[in-house]
Amino acid sequence: MNQSRPAWIAPSILAADFARLGAEVDAVLAAGADLIHFDVMDNHYVPNLTVGPPVCAALRKYGVTAPIDVHLMVRPVDRLATDFAKAGATWITFHPEASEHVDRTIALIREHGCRPGLVLNPATPLGWLDHTLDQLDMVLLMSVNPGFGGQQFISSVLDKLRAVRERIAASGRDIRLEIDGGIKVDNIGAAAAAGADTFVAGSAIFGSADYAATVCAMRGAIATAAG
Ligand code: DX5
Ligand code: ZN
Repeated sequence: MNQSRPAWIAPSILAADFARLGAEVDAVLAAGADLIHFDVMDNHYVPNLTVGPPVCAALRKYGVTAPIDVHLMVRPVDRLATDFAKAGATWITFHPEASEHVDRTIALIREHGCRPGLVLNPATPLGWLDHTLDQLDMVLLMSVNPGFGGQQFISSVLDKLRAVRERIAASGRDIRLEIDGGIKVDNIGAAAAAGADTFVAGSAIFGSADYAATVCAMRGAIATAAG
């Protein structure tokens, strides 16, 4: 992994207790999380339905000041991207095949004061980065097919991570490389070694008895992988 870049842990609220969402977010931030990963599913682009902009706005109103990393699994993208920017998102990532005009969506996110990123599914080719990387602040590689938490990590993404890390290095730009899906204490080191610097984890953190111990173990595994 790029050693000049601190590792960020991004718990996914998908695995939190939604009845106590504010307290859950407070708890993972107190446990050492760096940003809050906010999975948005529309029962159209993916076969599941989660939460929209009012829930993001409610977290801001509740007092959450940490960066909110909105992962849009929706089609179309632009309207919701704009609404999430207004609702307090910090980062907004989307799946390029879900947008009619990818360059326009990236620009829209930035115009609304957020940091844009593209999300590539396990079978989505890296060619989507050819004419977009210089506009992006993040690339998110999915290590499961999107739609559900608690799935198993697809290890072929490790080669993809290495390839994207090379492209980011060649770009010379400050672009985060995020990995999402099936991340646990026992595979986070491999993802870090392959080039990831931002790690989404839902069930591994919210399903554990001690959030701080889990985040700490993840950081330990990342540090070991970095040598
Ligand atoms: C899947 C979501 C992921 C997922 C991660 O569509 O984008 O963020 O919730 O959950 P775990 O860590 O449980 O695989
Ligand atoms: Zn996600």
